[in-house]
Amino acid sequence: MQNLLHLFENNKKWAEDILREDPDFFQKLSKQQNPEYLWIGCSDSRVPANEIVGLLPGEIFVHRNIANVVVHTDLNCLSVIQYAVEVLKVKHIIVCGHYGCGGIKAALTNDDHGIIDNWLRHIKDVYRLYKNQIDAADDFVAKADLLCELNVVEQVLNVCQTTMVQNAWKRQQELAVHGWIYSIANGIIKDLNVKVTGQADEYGAPSFPTP
Ligand code: CO
Repeated sequence: MQNLLHLFENNKKWAEDILREDPDFFQKLSKQQNPEYLWIGCSDSRVPANEIVGLLPGEIFVHRNIANVVVHTDLNCLSVIQYAVEVLKVKHIIVCGHYGCGGIKAALTNDDHGIIDNWLRHIKDVYRLYKNQIDAADDFVAKADLLCELNVVEQVLNVCQTTMVQNAWKRQQELAVHGWIYSIANGIIKDLNVKVTGQADEYGAPSFPTP
């Protein structure tokens, strides 16, 4: 079995590096967390939330799953949103997808991937909504990239329609929901300009420009 000692050594060095900058860092952090942001991103190992936006422990609350999907019956994701909005009172919820997402690519095929196909069903639903637009794209890569973006847009909408976010806006809590996409190829995040800050119609659906 592979020895994981190197991870413990990395950890010790990491903690020492932080303490060199701020000797009270962990002491202060152990008393409370006060993040301004909730990040909902993909589990992909190439998209680590803290690192790509340059934030330290304590500065961003994170939920990750395959293909950054927000499902209204997913107690895990809903609990994270509730805690972030109602207890931590984050000011921003960021749904961040990424180009080249394996979950998105898998959802564009009809191959059998096992249990994950039930999860990817949510992304296939996004494809169904935008089928004409996606089918018009040049090749598989372009189709997948477009679906990566449109999936973010739909998940922003899903975040906005959760009871926690709707209720936060009803009580005038300051809260914005953003849709971003990250490029694994160059490390740069693009804002998809679908920010929602609270205006909802009678169905609880916010309006924003689709990309
Ligand atoms: Co992914």
